Amino acid sequence: MFRHHPARGRRTAGLLVTALATLSAGLAAVAPAPPAHADTATLGELAEAKGRYFGSATDNPELSDTRYTQILGSEFGQITVGNTMKWQYTEPSRGRFDYTAAEEIVDLAESNGQSVRGHTLVWHNQLPSWVGDVPAGELLDVMRNHITHEVDHFKGRLIHWDVVNEAFEEDGSRRQSVFQQKIGDSYIAEAFKAARAADPDAKLYYNDYNIEGIGPKSDAVYEMVKSFKARGVPIDGVGMQAHLIAGQVPASIQRNIQRFADLGVDVALTELDIRMTLPRTAAKDAQQADDYGAVVRACLAVSRCVGITLWDYTDKYSWVPSVFPGEGAALPWDENFAKKPAYHAIAAALSGGGPAPGGDCTATYRVTSRWQGGFTAEVTVRNEHSAPITGWTVTWTLPGGQSIGNVWNGNLTVNGRNVTVRNAGYNGTLGGGGSTTFGLQGQGAADIPADVTCTPGQSAGTPAQ
Ligand code: G3I
Repeated sequence: MFRHHPARGRRTAGLLVTALATLSAGLAAVAPAPPAHADTATLGELAEAKGRYFGSATDNPELSDTRYTQILGSEFGQITVGNTMKWQYTEPSRGRFDYTAAEEIVDLAESNGQSVRGHTLVWHNQLPSWVGDVPAGELLDVMRNHITHEVDHFKGRLIHWDVVNEAFEEDGSRRQSVFQQKIGDSYIAEAFKAARAADPDAKLYYNDYNIEGIGPKSDAVYEMVKSFKARGVPIDGVGMQAHLIAGQVPASIQRNIQRFADLGVDVALTELDIRMTLPRTAAKDAQQADDYGAVVRACLAVSRCVGITLWDYTDKYSWVPSVFPGEGAALPWDENFAKKPAYHAIAAALSGGGPAPGGDCTATYRVTSRWQGGFTAEVTVRNEHSAPITGWTVTWTLPGGQSIGNVWNGNLTVNGRNVTVRNAGYNGTLGGGGSTTFGLQGQGAADIPADVTCTPGQSAGTPAQ
């Protein structure tokens, strides 16, 4: 169902796709190879053109998956070490430091020309048990020593550090971590000071989840940042993790990013994923695509929103299903590394596109039979967003030597080599994620056109001569 790579609508034509009709596996053997395609810029490149980074988290066990590392190394401009910079790995026993696993990822990122965010120095989770046993009077020194050692070790190699992670509860009170209990409120400021002393160049972030929208938790972080700025505590940024749910992106996300920026700190979306209740459906994919697009646009709308990181990029390695049973499919690539509508929505948003009024559609062209001198093809038109569309127009340029005999389930106009097919009276309305097909019979070789494009609505297209 999700196998064919669709041709994008007008908003992304040129950047995202040129061709892209892909043959089904069974027909690939008999049909000519599809034209070289396709997505001409990676997400990392599109973000870079906007002065941002677009990255992914990764974890060491995944690095033996060559299919995975190929995309990890080519699509993204930034990498976050998903686990192995955490205290449990880097100081497993008091005073014994080990950066082997973290360095494997940093080395790989550097060899791919990618920047790296450090995650994370002080967190209540993935903390070795010995830290809990440190006497209250010693914990501040232990914390400072951990920060100093780790930040110094990676000095010059990381753009950001998540210095303190997840220190607040949902109601805005402080989480009663071992640091909070044994050091008190001041531990966060002390952590930032120690990190700055160890590396004056890395940007220092406070990182948390459920602070993407305005509410008690983000208010508490806001007040902390405001007070740090007033007191000269060295903080450079706020990381909004953005573990979101399809259909529930906070309406205030852009305003919230902006209010932090107005305090004089950068903002990064540090762990983006948008989960859904399984199983996946086309409608849920469409909603998720809208949500990814909205989140990317919210970041781009604020100049101090410096970048976006996916919390890994493929459903194959998402943390979500193990923590939220029955939920998942949260990332822009599925478990087989196929790009989902979310990917295209991110690319469109990074390219400057907004949601088309009334939705957006894609067209997927496949050859269904061929013979000496002729062929039939089927084009699937899909509404990739959650808002319904009430008409569609599919266009392409005829490959050399081809002509079209007739079309069914659509209205054909041909002008020279320009083909336009508009919906029939009965198949123009497509709900969110909905699809329909039309068929055609043609003469000539069954070459797949390189520029199949879908536009919502009955656009004028090229008038017939
Ligand atoms: O390394 C052991 C392995 O030896 C063992 O066989 C296996 C058995 O379960 O566990 C492995 O450790 C797991 C570790 O990830 C590495 O894969 C832990 O059980 C597991 O709990 C841990 O989960 C990580 C989680 O943080 C811990 O809270 C996720 O991978 C990681 O993606 C997740 O990341 C966090 C961010 O750091 C902070 N924000 C939320 C985000 C998602 O929870």
